[in-house]
Formats: sequence, C-alpha cells, structure tokens
Amino acid sequence: MANNVRPASMERITTPALANKFIAEQLDALRAQIGSKKVLLALSGGVDSSVVAALLIKAVGQQLTCVHVNHGLLRKGEPEQVVRVFREEMKANLVYVDAVDRFLDKLAGVAEPEQKRKVIGAEFIRVFEEEARKLEGIEFLAQGTIYPDILESGPVKAHHNVGGLPDDLKFELVEPLKFLFKDEVRVVGEALGLPHSMVYRQPFPGPGLGVRCTGAITRDRLEAVRESDAILREEFAKNGLEGKVWQYFTIVPDYKSTGVKENVRSYEWPVVIRAVNTKDAMTATVEDIPFALLQHITNRITHEVKGVNRVLYDLTPKPTGTIEWE
Ligand code: XMP
Repeated sequence: MANNVRPASMERITTPALANKFIAEQLDALRAQIGSKKVLLALSGGVDSSVVAALLIKAVGQQLTCVHVNHGLLRKGEPEQVVRVFREEMKANLVYVDAVDRFLDKLAGVAEPEQKRKVIGAEFIRVFEEEARKLEGIEFLAQGTIYPDILESGPVKAHHNVGGLPDDLKFELVEPLKFLFKDEVRVVGEALGLPHSMVYRQPFPGPGLGVRCTGAITRDRLEAVRESDAILREEFAKNGLEGKVWQYFTIVPDYKSTGVKENVRSYEWPVVIRAVNTKDAMTATVEDIPFALLQHITNRITHEVKGVNRVLYDLTPKPTGTIEWE
C-alpha cells in the first residue's frame, strides 16, 4: 500500500531540532485529521504509545482519552508512572482501569505459553472495548504503530492488542509514528518532554511479566518476578548497565528446590537472571556481568524477595535459547 511506505524524502530524525520539525508537522496533520472530534488511545506506558499520547495531548488536548489497562503483569512502578506523567503532569484525560483481578482470575491454571498470550490478548480487547463503549462520540483510534511493525521485520512486537475490536467500534486510525524507526521515536519522545526512563525503556513484551512467571501464573510467584525484576533494574541502573544492555529481566520458574535460611530448611523458587544484547532480537548474546555484581544481586534477591532461595544466571545465547523463557 502506497501510504504505508516511508517517503524517500523523509529525513532520519536524529537530533532535537529534527524532532521538533517532525512534531510541528505532525501537530498540523493531526489537527487537520481530527478536527474537533474525539480520539481514543490504549496507553500501555511503553515508548510508542507514550509518544503518541504526548503528541496528541499537544495537538488536541482534552479531545484525547487515554485508557491505561493495568492487567497486573506490568513491572513495579509502571502503572503509577503512567498516571503521574500523563494525568498529573501532562493533564491528559486518562482512564485508569484496575483489571488486575480480572486478568489473574482468567489466567488461573492456564499453563501453556501461547494459551496464556491468547487469554491476555483477548481479555485486553474485552476491557478496552468496555471502556470504549462507556465513552460517547469517539471517532478515532490512535495507535503507536511504528515502521518496523509495518515492515513486519522482527519478532519484537505482536503490536498493540487493539486490532480485534468488534465492527461497531471500528474507528478511523490515527498513527502518527508509522514511518518512524524506534531510535527516531525516542528522539521525538525526549523532545516532547517525556521522562528519559520512559523513552529509553528496554523492550517489554505485551504479555508482560506473565511470560516470566512460567507455567500457570500464581499471585505469589508473580510478585517474586516483579520484586526480583525491580532489584535487577535498580542494580543495573546503579552500576551503569541500564543504557548498555539491550534487555534484562528475571524469570521465576514454576518449580522449587531445597535451601536453608537461618538454619531452617526451605523449599522455594529460584530466580533466573537474563541479560542479553541483540540488534534485531533474532539472535542474542549474553551480557558479561561482573561476578561481584551478580553476587550482590543474588544476595539482595535471596534476602529481599519472598519465596526465593536461589538465583541462577542464564548463560544461553539465542540460539539456542529464545530471549524470553516462554
Ligand atoms: P524471543 O523470546 O522470541 O523474544 O527471543 C524476542 C523479543 O520479542 C519479545 N517478545 C514479545 N513481545 N509480545 C511482545 O510484544 C510477545 O508475546 C513477545 N514474546 C517475546 C521479547 O521480549 C524479545 O524482546
């Protein structure tokens, strides 16, 4: 489709000045497309949807309604950051949906990875549809589609799960980033004043922590994933690895092993650390984390995270392992 090909004349956005030029052009284009009508956006807090939100807030202000669905599988502090940045600082019209119980109830006992993804995707559409029906007069749906999504070049993202809305909710699409590559989206995001931590976030899968709590998700093990991930991120940030390593996270597999804590035998989960570098997510190499740092992180995780008595470091490149464990 002709309108899905990046114009050859389009300059690569590498500087704040070029980002500002892009932003000015997009503000005009968005105002021309939307006029005085209303737009809806599923705002996950990821880089792409956040940049779309910031652009639309500038372009049409209160005509935009952002819906943030907390499905319980987000990282520690993420839902709070979305509310703080968009509702409190940017004064956006933000509907925050606490759907944690709904998702976790639906996921109870579902162990097969693709089935888990389907349950999460389907429930997301259901929640979003319910919210869309509560709003009156919406004519546009904004999406954080970026150029690699159109090119379908990588496995990085089975993009925003809002494609499956029923026919009577088929809105006209607004996709201001559809010709941008990820690095350009980040430059634009910074120029729009979004926090560095939001714009330079590492990739995070749509099903979130759900695929890092392997097998059937339980609330206690999910908390162990969230808490250990927060410790890993904190330590990477402190030790200068945050912007250096492409993707890093923890996994809590659904089995236990014996240990001993304060002279008492324990039977608890291990936490697996994964830290990889890649260009396109098709292949990946393992980050060489200093051993002393690994020991420090291990000590923190085994002492601070409930239900955990061991820490492992995954040394497997892709191939043979995938980046995620499910
Ligand atoms: P794998 O595990 O296949 O991951 O080596 C490659 C990249 O894709 C991300 N990933 C996903 N992203 N939905 C997503 O949006 C998913 O279901 C999904 N599964 C994997 C993964 O985090 C890595 O960046």
